[in-house]
Amino acid sequence: MASPTAAGDLRFLLVGVLVVMVVGSRLVRRADGGGIPTTLEGPFAPATLAFDRALRQGSDDVPLTDPRLAPRARPPAPEQIALAASSDATSVWVSWITGAAQVGSHLTPLDPSAVRSEVWYGESPSPTASAGDISGHYPHVERGKAEVYSQLYPYPGLLNYTSGVIHHVRLRGLRPVTRYYYRCGDSSVHGGAGLSDELSFETLPSSSSCSAAYPRRVAVVGDLGLTGNSTSTVEHLARNDPSLVVVVGDMAYANQYRTTGGRGAPCFSCSFPDAPLRESYQPRWDGWGRFMEPLTSRIPMMVIEGNHEIEPQGQGGVVTFASYMSRFAVPSEESGSNTKFYYSFNAGGIHFIMLGAYVDYNRTGAQYSWLEKDLRKIDRRATPWVVAAWHPPWYNSYSSHYQEFECMRQAMEGLLYQHGVDIVLSGHVHAYERMNRVFNYTLDPCGPVYITIGDGGNIEKIDIDHADDPGKCPGPGDNHPEIGGVCHLNFTSGPAKGKFCWEKQPDWSAFRESSFGHGILEVVNSTYALWTWHRNQDAYGDDSVGDQIYVVRQPDKCLLQTTRASSDKNNCPSQGCPSLVSNSGSGAQKDMIRSGHLIWNASLVIWMILISTVFLKGNPCSNF
Ligand SMILES: *[C@@H]1O[C@H](CO)[C@@H](O)[C@H](O)[C@H]1NC(C)=O
Ligand SMILES: *[C@@H]1O[C@H](CO)[C@@H](O)[C@H](O)[C@H]1NC(C)=O
Ligand SMILES: *[C@@H]1O[C@H](CO)[C@@H](O)[C@H](O)[C@H]1NC(C)=O
Ligand SMILES: *[C@@H]1O[C@H](CO)[C@@H](O)[C@H](O)[C@H]1NC(C)=O
Ligand SMILES: *[C@@H]1O[C@H](CO)[C@@H](O)[C@H](O)[C@H]1NC(C)=O
Ligand SMILES: *[C@@H]1O[C@H](CO)[C@@H](O)[C@H](O)[C@H]1NC(C)=O
Ligand SMILES: [Fe+2]
Repeated sequence: MASPTAAGDLRFLLVGVLVVMVVGSRLVRRADGGGIPTTLEGPFAPATLAFDRALRQGSDDVPLTDPRLAPRARPPAPEQIALAASSDATSVWVSWITGAAQVGSHLTPLDPSAVRSEVWYGESPSPTASAGDISGHYPHVERGKAEVYSQLYPYPGLLNYTSGVIHHVRLRGLRPVTRYYYRCGDSSVHGGAGLSDELSFETLPSSSSCSAAYPRRVAVVGDLGLTGNSTSTVEHLARNDPSLVVVVGDMAYANQYRTTGGRGAPCFSCSFPDAPLRESYQPRWDGWGRFMEPLTSRIPMMVIEGNHEIEPQGQGGVVTFASYMSRFAVPSEESGSNTKFYYSFNAGGIHFIMLGAYVDYNRTGAQYSWLEKDLRKIDRRATPWVVAAWHPPWYNSYSSHYQEFECMRQAMEGLLYQHGVDIVLSGHVHAYERMNRVFNYTLDPCGPVYITIGDGGNIEKIDIDHADDPGKCPGPGDNHPEIGGVCHLNFTSGPAKGKFCWEKQPDWSAFRESSFGHGILEVVNSTYALWTWHRNQDAYGDDSVGDQIYVVRQPDKCLLQTTRASSDKNNCPSQGCPSLVSNSGSGAQKDMIRSGHLIWNASLVIWMILISTVFLKGNPCSNF
């Protein structure tokens, strides 16, 4: 091998310094990670933080007379304004309600075609745009659809409900990471009285294989309800300044009430044994929409159905999910699902898949084939992270809902594993639990990290019993899903072989605690994401967090079977994109430097570094 010349030595040094600078600056940015564990150090020995019994008391619903649950605008102006992400950063849904909901008998639904659904918007604020010429103030207007729904109970003594007019408008052609100012409503109403005040939101980063950009902070909450505890969860969550909110099902808990309203109960069947079916009091939904509005009118909120959204009505409960289907805009058409029961969307470099647990999930069903197609379409260079969410957890060591959705796990787990889903978020169980990486109930370094975050604080109270606590293993008659089959299974290997429950915390459960709270996901780069669980009680004391871990992806190890270079549509350099260069290329770079062909290799490395720095800063690949 030829020995390097002096000039070669100098270049060697220069390249070395450059490499150290580039790599170092990325490391320094995350050097705060000291002390926070990573999943690479797992699997962790199972840990339980003992329940603090002082937290058990008092979680009644906030009454509808509370000012936070009152309309925030005078009719005919819009209220319950909420944003939702569409399939990507260039599009956003805006939803709101006009007109009064009605409760009683012989109701006449409002006419949705009598009110316009308009969103006026632009990149500059126009706070003084009041009466008259709104079109002079905003460069864009988008129009959408309006609908009403009714919750009808043909039983003596029960009251019916019919909603205000629910509007959904999809804004398109937006620029990523850009603040938009908007007013929604009906501009034809005299004096601008049919329009909201000016509000604003920031679009998410784009999902381009040439620029790895991630939403700043994704807040995750489940089983929220609207109690004193729920409001404390939402206040805490808002203080953490998320750029996207994901609700993993069970939103308003309107079905803790009879149709006559009154007081909500922690257990419907216990308090109202004479009810002809599980009733629900829809004005609670309106109260929830109003309570959430200060957050949802600024930040997109993505929801997926839970069991509290079933809300059966009609004769024998043939009509279900009416409120969920009408109130929320979700990108179902954009993601090819054509049903709000399941859908997907991109938030920067994260592909979110929202699955329906209360609709068919069998391998022969429509959801399964949609999921298969959706997973196959993912370009991991554009969205390295795949996060799936659905309401009831597959991995759960609490007694509550233990193995309730085994059928769904058995049907779908293999598919998600095969496609390298990184994180799974669920709720349903009213407590917190984070799992070790697991597949098919076996610890597996390539399995997803499952997290149960159903501890939003609803009226049903916190779950404290573990299936491994003495006498707390559920029986065969417990934990049957409201919709779908029962597939309870005894373990076939490990310490619980032949049994339904473990006698200690299972090895797949890394950490569990019965406290209310919410989670925050901050993706750092294509392989590191910081997950933090915030307990409500910490908001009042020190700044501590309940649980924190870096979820680390290992694409080289775990994505072998699905690696595809499918993004030729992007005009990337043929070597691939910065994330790939820094992932798999750094070792190769060192080898090149060690070899004798320094001049050529050094200039190549410099070229690559320059290109990747430009790519990291600017965005030469995108059209914006
Ligand atoms: C991602 O961030 C982690 C933590 O800061 C760092 O160790 C790693 O090298 C980074 N990976 C990439 C691909 O940039
Ligand atoms: C719920 O709220 C009540 C009243 O503020 C409080 O005493 C209780 O500790 C909270 N429960 C939990 C689990 O945080
Ligand atoms: C509610 O609507 C159902 C279905 O239209 C009807 O049978 C029932 O009488 C209504 N109830 C009241 C109280 O008006
Ligand atoms: C999961 O484990 C069960 C029982 O050990 C086994 O029968 C089944 O084939 C496994 N499934 C997969 C997808 O590996
Ligand atoms: C789907 O699976 C569930 C649970 O096993 C079962 O109850 C249902 O009958 C199945 N449906 C179809 C269409 O196979
Ligand atoms: C599962 O285990 C339980 C004990 O935990 C036992 O009573 C039951 O018979 C077992 N079921 C099967 C199908 O083996
Ligand atoms: Fe639930």
